[in-house]
Amino acid sequence: MYSTLPLTLRVCMFIACSSACSTSCVCIEDKATCITSDPSKIVLNENIREVVLQDIESSLLSEQTFSTNPQWSKVETLKIFAVGYKFLANRVFTGLSGLTYLGFHNENMHFMKKNTFSGLNNLKELDFSNNIRLRVSSFKKIMNSTHLPRLNKLRLNGMYSAEVDAIDANNDLFQSVAGRDIKRNITHLDISNINFRDFNFDAFFKSGLCNTVHEIYLRNATIQNMHGFGYVNESCSSLKIIDISDSQLPNILRHHSAMSTLASLCRLTIFYFNVEELYMNGLGTKKNTPPLQDDRDGDLRSCPYRLRTFSLENNLIKRLNSTVKLHNQTQKTMEWISLSGNILEFISPQFLCQSMNLKYLDLSGNHLHKMQEYYEDQFKILTKYNTKLKVLKLNRNGISCIPFNMFLTNNELEELDLSHNNISSLDFHIGLLTNLKVLNLSYNAISYIDAKARATMQQLAAAKNPQNLTIDLSNMPYICSCDDNHIETIKWIHRNLDTFIARPREDYICTLQGERLYIFQNALEKTNAYCREQNIKRNLAICLPIVCVFLLIGLLIFFKTQRSRRRKRERKNLRSQIELGEFPMKFVAFLSFSSDDAELVVNTILPKLNSELQLKTGTNRVLVCSGDRHFRPGYALGEEIIRCIEDSAVIIMAVSKHFCQKEWCRKEVQETYDQNKPIVLLFLERVEPDEMGKVLRKVFNRYAHASWIPDTDGGHIEPDWPILCDALLDLTVAELEKNRVH
Ligand SMILES: *[C@@H]1O[C@H](CO)[C@@H](O)[C@H](O)[C@H]1NC(C)=O
Ligand SMILES: *[C@@H]1O[C@H](CO)[C@@H](O)[C@H](O)[C@H]1NC(C)=O
Ligand SMILES: *[C@@H]1O[C@H](CO)[C@@H](O)[C@H](O)[C@H]1NC(C)=O
Ligand SMILES: *[C@@H]1O[C@H](CO)[C@@H](O)[C@H](O)[C@H]1NC(C)=O
Ligand SMILES: *[C@@H]1O[C@H](CO)[C@@H](O)[C@H](O)[C@H]1NC(C)=O
Ligand SMILES: *[C@@H]1O[C@H](CO)[C@@H](O)[C@H](O)[C@H]1NC(C)=O
Ligand SMILES: *[C@@H]1O[C@H](CO)[C@@H](O)[C@H](O)[C@H]1NC(C)=O
Ligand SMILES: *[C@@H]1O[C@H](CO)[C@@H](O)[C@H](O)[C@H]1NC(C)=O
Ligand SMILES: *[C@@H]1O[C@H](CO)[C@@H](O)[C@H](O)[C@H]1NC(C)=O
Repeated sequence: MYSTLPLTLRVCMFIACSSACSTSCVCIEDKATCITSDPSKIVLNENIREVVLQDIESSLLSEQTFSTNPQWSKVETLKIFAVGYKFLANRVFTGLSGLTYLGFHNENMHFMKKNTFSGLNNLKELDFSNNIRLRVSSFKKIMNSTHLPRLNKLRLNGMYSAEVDAIDANNDLFQSVAGRDIKRNITHLDISNINFRDFNFDAFFKSGLCNTVHEIYLRNATIQNMHGFGYVNESCSSLKIIDISDSQLPNILRHHSAMSTLASLCRLTIFYFNVEELYMNGLGTKKNTPPLQDDRDGDLRSCPYRLRTFSLENNLIKRLNSTVKLHNQTQKTMEWISLSGNILEFISPQFLCQSMNLKYLDLSGNHLHKMQEYYEDQFKILTKYNTKLKVLKLNRNGISCIPFNMFLTNNELEELDLSHNNISSLDFHIGLLTNLKVLNLSYNAISYIDAKARATMQQLAAAKNPQNLTIDLSNMPYICSCDDNHIETIKWIHRNLDTFIARPREDYICTLQGERLYIFQNALEKTNAYCREQNIKRNLAICLPIVCVFLLIGLLIFFKTQRSRRRKRERKNLRSQIELGEFPMKFVAFLSFSSDDAELVVNTILPKLNSELQLKTGTNRVLVCSGDRHFRPGYALGEEIIRCIEDSAVIIMAVSKHFCQKEWCRKEVQETYDQNKPIVLLFLERVEPDEMGKVLRKVFNRYAHASWIPDTDGGHIEPDWPILCDALLDLTVAELEKNRVH
């Protein structure tokens, strides 16, 4: 044991406590902690006032244990953790006359002798918690004595709770605790974690404990029946604090149908009229009751409650829509309300407005976003009448928007907690909250703070010493981008951290193009770099199209000259081919016309076309095939047409109204089309599209055509002959090209 102690403690034992401790103890200043089964061997120094004894064997405790060594009478605080043995003998604490605090814990103890507490005349506090097998009858017996005359605080936490049956909090118990003959001044009673069969308020009252007990803790207890509830017609005058959190209570409403009206609540609760602090957390969750929706209005004006603190956390309360009229005294005393951790979706401003001196209101961890969404007019004035509020907690409510004027009347606010909501904009009025010390907005959905909100916060801060206002703007989805609002927000946070913006630095993060950056590390530099890059790109994006247009025009010109050069070259090629007799076709063109137009075509157009083509190609060969000259007499006309079309590169059709009506002409059109030869239409007169045949109309719609315009000079062609001939030669080149590929 000794060798395992830390060095500093060993040193302590040799110097400061050389004679203060047995080898089983460790001493620090005036406190000794000993691990031993028999404490009678322990030797204590003069200065020791507090002793903790671990692993004490209960059976070894006797009247001599603490009385043979007078040093024990100097000890003021003694905590004993004992094991084994069901009994605690008589007078085992003799010699501890200076003791004011005794803690004794033994899970195996069942019984105590009547005079166990003999000699503890100065004891003020008895901690008897965790004696989970101690029989209440035994405990009652030893308290029903003149021992412990100065006892103030009694803790019986978990007494007898390891056993299946329950205990009764009845006359016997309360009277023995109160001290039947000596009237103890018990001010503090902890009876948590106990399973009660009956709990008799009337007995409590009659025992006189209502003259002394200031606070009762009844946490995590089970009470099967409450007796006297509603029958005690006087208030418990000394009782100021009651905590019955997490306890399981009988359904009072079932036993008292009268309770179902709030009006009778007054009469039934006279016992509690003096209570100032009432903690009733976690009652709803235990009982598996449906969510509480209290819409009953009530008039409690005749109940002079002095309630100052009222805690109703974790109770599955869903809606508080009642208008409860309070006694004018209660209106003044009520200062602290917590409804945290319920499932509140609605709480009427009327419910709160009567508590005109309310200083602390905790509504955190509820579902008030529903009220904000669906009853915004009510939400807006939720705390309007509570003008004395100093602390308001609305955190963890899923609220996405705070109405602009919500806190207009709450000028006294010192702490406003809106953290863990879904607020995305700070456009609500905080400029008048000049007493603000903490504004917590962390964990919301704010991506930037606009200039107006920044200015307001800065003004609030400027009116105070730097350490007097803290605004927590951490853990928000800030955006780092080139947007002025975004970048100004980041800069502003950067600037003000050391004045009013809450630490720690690493909780300020922004996202730049999906990348998370620490605002107090490199966010600004990276954003600036990114924006410079964006700027360059943007400028490029403006300049580039201009450059492109010029480039495109240049290219177009280049390709066009290239193409016209190529054409010229090819035409020249074609000419030389024709000159050399290497032209693979007999004719450049076949001119198809109707016999009704023969005069004009044969006399004027055909010779001109032929001579123009000869001029272009520099040859005297006949380059145009026509029916009058080239159809072989005696051959079938159809065969001759096909042959002539096959022998020509391009087909020219002299279209007139007659041409369209002629069967043969139509045949020629069809044949040309079938042979997939290039067709040039030469209109001799105006022909409406619906006068043309189907195939001719298709050709007319698809390709440009030429026209013969009669004039005083015998007529001319449009476009000019050279253009028409160039077109014919180009089409010929393309046709030859096509045939070569095939
Ligand atoms: C308490 O002591 C009184 C006498 O002082 C006695 O009448 C009473 O029965 C005792 N009660 C218990 C529970 O022992
Ligand atoms: C009871 O104890 C409390 C606190 O220890 C003390 O203030 C009060 O005066 C005492 N009452 C009596 C009657 O001794
Ligand atoms: C509450 O009481 C139950 C038994 O009723 C026990 O198991 C549990 O540990 C207690 N909880 C606390 C926090 O004391
Ligand atoms: C309280 O009720 C009892 C009877 O249960 C009666 O004797 C007593 O006078 C009543 N006290 C008050 C203040 O009403
Ligand atoms: C609250 O009560 C009033 C009047 O009883 C009623 O008109 C209103 O609808 C209630 N509001 C909610 C949210 O239940
Ligand atoms: C408070 O109410 C009582 C009656 O319950 C009345 O006598 C008193 O005048 C009221 N005080 C104020 C300030 O309203
Ligand atoms: C937060 O608000 C946005 C709209 O502003 C909404 O789409 C989103 O669902 C909300 N988130 C939560 C957890 O309520
Ligand atoms: C703000 O609230 C968060 C979350 O509840 C908490 O962690 C933080 O400490 C609070 N900030 C301040 C300055 O109180
Ligand atoms: C700042 O707070 C201190 C105490 O917290 C107070 O004494 C002082 O007056 C405050 N200063 C301002 C300017 O509010």
